[in-house]
Amino acid sequence: MNAGPIPVIAIDGPSASGKGTVAKAVARALGFHLLDSGALYRLVALAALNAELPWNDEPGLARLALGLQAGFRGDDIMLENQIVTENIRSEACSEGASIVGAVGGVRRALLRRQRAFRQIPGLVADGRDMGTVVFPDADLKIYLTASVEVRAERRYKQLKQKGIAATLTALLKDLRERDERDMLRSAAPLKPSPEAHILDTTALTAEAAADRVLAVYRGLRNDAI
Ligand code: DC
Repeated sequence: MNAGPIPVIAIDGPSASGKGTVAKAVARALGFHLLDSGALYRLVALAALNAELPWNDEPGLARLALGLQAGFRGDDIMLENQIVTENIRSEACSEGASIVGAVGGVRRALLRRQRAFRQIPGLVADGRDMGTVVFPDADLKIYLTASVEVRAERRYKQLKQKGIAATLTALLKDLRERDERDMLRSAAPLKPSPEAHILDTTALTAEAAADRVLAVYRGLRNDAI
């Protein structure tokens, strides 16, 4: 266990693996801060859509990311002082986030902003490259995964609850495409770091997955004493 002053738990994994729910529950249980790094990529995508910037304008996207006026207030996520918590969850922003996430200049522009979330008493960071790039010295690295079918079903239920129309077939196709883009890109591709604990949540609820992460983390802390 690293002896750094501010502990970090990195939780990485593919879309709809339950990272967000697990990260939130772990942060709440420990009283830690939470970094939803996907929200930053989603905000860049929304800013690009608002500015009608084409997805292939890489320098333009990097500039947007550098000057991004993002805010996190409680559960609210802001872009230029507007609450966009729901807007950034749209399929257009999900797709856009995956596209802008493949741009090296965007990733570099967001690096310092993400590291600034590391504050006392600790941080739970959720994303794709938390353990590999942003917090390589994280105290605990978790790679959360689940079969693509189960992830599509979870997304389907979430959308249905919100009254948003979707089909399982379309969601499956979409998740497969996003996985491929996130895993095959050259800039910080999604992959477990060698020291990550792999947690397959195909047959686990988010609560059970969070309990496992907490148990491993508490175990590490006890070992360090
Ligand atoms: O975690 P999420 O589904 O909100 O992330 C949306 C997209 O943002 C994801 O498809 C890829 C990108 N992303 C990334 O490239 N790196 C991160 N650390 C987090 C998200």
